[in-house]
Amino acid sequence: MSIAFPVVRMRRLRRHAAIRDLVRETTVTPDDLIYPIFVEEGIESPAPVNSMPGVVRIPEKNLTQEIKAIQSDGIKAVMLFGVSHAKDAIGGDALKSEGLLSRMTKRAKDAAPELVIISDICFCEYTDHGHCGVVEGGHVHNDQTINNLGRQAVVAAKAGADMVAPSAMMDGQVAAIREALDDAGCIDTPIMAYASKFASAFYGPFRAAAGCDLKGDRKAYQMDPMNGREALREAMLDEAEGADILMVKPGMPYLDVLARLRDITLLPLAAYQVSGEYAMIKFAAQAGALDEKRIVQETLGAFKRAGADLILTYFARDVVRS
Ligand code: PBG
Repeated sequence: MSIAFPVVRMRRLRRHAAIRDLVRETTVTPDDLIYPIFVEEGIESPAPVNSMPGVVRIPEKNLTQEIKAIQSDGIKAVMLFGVSHAKDAIGGDALKSEGLLSRMTKRAKDAAPELVIISDICFCEYTDHGHCGVVEGGHVHNDQTINNLGRQAVVAAKAGADMVAPSAMMDGQVAAIREALDDAGCIDTPIMAYASKFASAFYGPFRAAAGCDLKGDRKAYQMDPMNGREALREAMLDEAEGADILMVKPGMPYLDVLARLRDITLLPLAAYQVSGEYAMIKFAAQAGALDEKRIVQETLGAFKRAGADLILTYFARDVVRS
């Protein structure tokens, strides 16, 4: 017979705050956090994102001072998203060494050389139709797009990106990017793969924030939210293609995927608490229904508990400040 009550009393370790601290299994520190930011060209002042209270699109010309402020708050890594005014059918601006992606990456790196600068590698911010790559016959053309993703990753790395994060959900994108980076001499630039990325309604506010409205949806390339095993296959393939870090996205509704992935890979894992998750917490807190600070700690702790090493969250700056 196993030991049970009254010999076992779980409450013994909960009575004293410092004992609770001693036995705590999971903690979140600024070292774990990546802060995503939006950088818009051609605007004069910060543009608030109405669906994400507290988030603004930073004018490109203010980026230097903003990056310095973000770093001095204690943020160690940022993910840059460009809000383009030069969109075309293939997202060509992101392939140019003088395009927004390249300019903002350079500017961020120059402003804070110690800060980890991560580039989102995808075309939806730079295409006029809003899809993540080259559209042909009503579908995103996989193989043309991965070729372009490789070129885009090289543009980012040459501009100073410390890491690239492909999010287009094209087959073979990690291998194509690794090869392009290596051919360009960027052998030490790591790839954080958006490996298990679902076609989620939780990205709604992001599309307004990044100015990438889409006619249609991304169900032909992002994953069906109902599929768990497939998410593990996606991640395993990205590992085999050379990914250095695997990401699950969105975060909270997909903790099962994160936990299962933790059991089958030795790579670092990232969780992305996406725009819709941020909006739910912010608006609920604004309405007085939730305690924002405690909710944020609890959700970030849940990512770590489920197996994440890194967390991308729009709350990162609030967390490091407090
Ligand atoms: C680009 C990209 C998206 C997000 C991150 N990278 C949008 C999408 O896939 O539709 C969403 C991030 C968020 O919602 O916070 N492909």
